Amino acid sequence: MIGVVLVGATGSIGRSTLDVVRSLGAEARLVGAFSGSNADGLAAITREFGPRYCAAIGLREGSAGQVGGGAGGVLEAAIADPETTVVVSAASGAAGLPASLLAVRHGRRLALANKESMVMAGPLLLREAARTGAAIVPVDSEHSAIFQALRAGRREEVRKVILTASGGPFRTWPAERIAEATPEEALRHPTWSMGRKITIDSATLMNKALELIEAHGLFGLAPGEIEVVVHPQSIVHGMVEFVDGSVVAQMGKPDMRLPIQYALSCPERKGSSFSRFDVRDFASLTFEAPDPLRFPALALGEEAVRIGGTAGAVLNAANEVAVERFLAGEIPFPAIWKTAEAVLRSATFVSDPDLDDIHAADRAAREEARKWPT
Ligand SMILES: NC(=O)c1ccc[n+]([C@@H]2O[C@H](COP(=O)([O-])OP(=O)(O)OC[C@H]3O[C@@H](n4cnc5c(N)ncnc54)[C@H](OP(=O)(O)O)[C@@H]3O)[C@@H](O)[C@H]2O)c1
Repeated sequence: MIGVVLVGATGSIGRSTLDVVRSLGAEARLVGAFSGSNADGLAAITREFGPRYCAAIGLREGSAGQVGGGAGGVLEAAIADPETTVVVSAASGAAGLPASLLAVRHGRRLALANKESMVMAGPLLLREAARTGAAIVPVDSEHSAIFQALRAGRREEVRKVILTASGGPFRTWPAERIAEATPEEALRHPTWSMGRKITIDSATLMNKALELIEAHGLFGLAPGEIEVVVHPQSIVHGMVEFVDGSVVAQMGKPDMRLPIQYALSCPERKGSSFSRFDVRDFASLTFEAPDPLRFPALALGEEAVRIGGTAGAVLNAANEVAVERFLAGEIPFPAIWKTAEAVLRSATFVSDPDLDDIHAADRAAREEARKWPT
């Protein structure tokens, strides 16, 4: 029996996870459900699934990380419950880190949707997971694809991995038009239906920058071993090139229920009734290089990996604030990556950070990003 604690239950990944739990029937049970502040959404989930634990655990504004008071206790009790086998960490942004850390500290499988946890605190998560024996299984479709494709060979046989990007709504737009993009335009993703923050990250390609840092952490790859290609149909989710030149790809419809189910059940595969992929529906699958001039955010991921330490936390925090400010109409679209770049370039870093260092880096970067342009 798969015992699921779901953090971010009322969001886009949360809803897809609930669909998977429904579809798995007697093979899975929802042990705990947690949201930020949406108590009504949580109540509906509780009525249908009857989890033993549930709470709205929204954090204080600007904090990267502790769940305070009673709510934190409920979350930890849910994760520690002997019936819990997997924690789906699917809050949005830095708020996802506490659940990810608690999961690995309690030796539970971490089904990681919240890429920001790995971006901010990758080495810490990996260290804790190594200590407790917790598995970290990616939910992000690209990383799930690579995780699956890696099973075709040994680590030393891998030459590089290829992360695909849809290119977002502005893939074909000229720079001048991108500069004028409105929140409504940026929220219109061509292939995926997702929460607001990740949808904006997909439009700037900051999502791919964060995913590059995530891939570096999850798979122990150097930036030169991770390539990004734009693939507008979002059918090939990721590829691994082996030393002999073979490339193993994972394909599927753009439906997050597939990687979520795999993260819950792997290494087993369970049946599902989700709509099937038919290769004949996709006569043309295209791939192109990303344009670094129109999408400068992408390079910031590589820069953060090269700096290491708290650089991921800084980049993530600056981006989160900039996305909020863009959505609030305070700054234009290009100011998102300009803010992130300026904050990253002016920060000081701690090379082997503990959780306090990560919180401090997150707070300082948020403060800087709120002031930008200075
Ligand atoms: N959506 C996708 O297809 C997709 C794909 C790959 C990866 N991801 C990653 O998955 C994560 C979630 O994305 P999403 O699109 O599902 O976001 P979303 O739709 O905005 O949902 C966010 C969820 O997080 C909850 N939340 C907010 N603050 C919280 C807190 N402090 N503690 C616990 N929960 C909190 C929200 O609760 P309330 O409803 O109460 O606000 C909501 O349930 C992100 O890290 C994203 O990058 C998403």
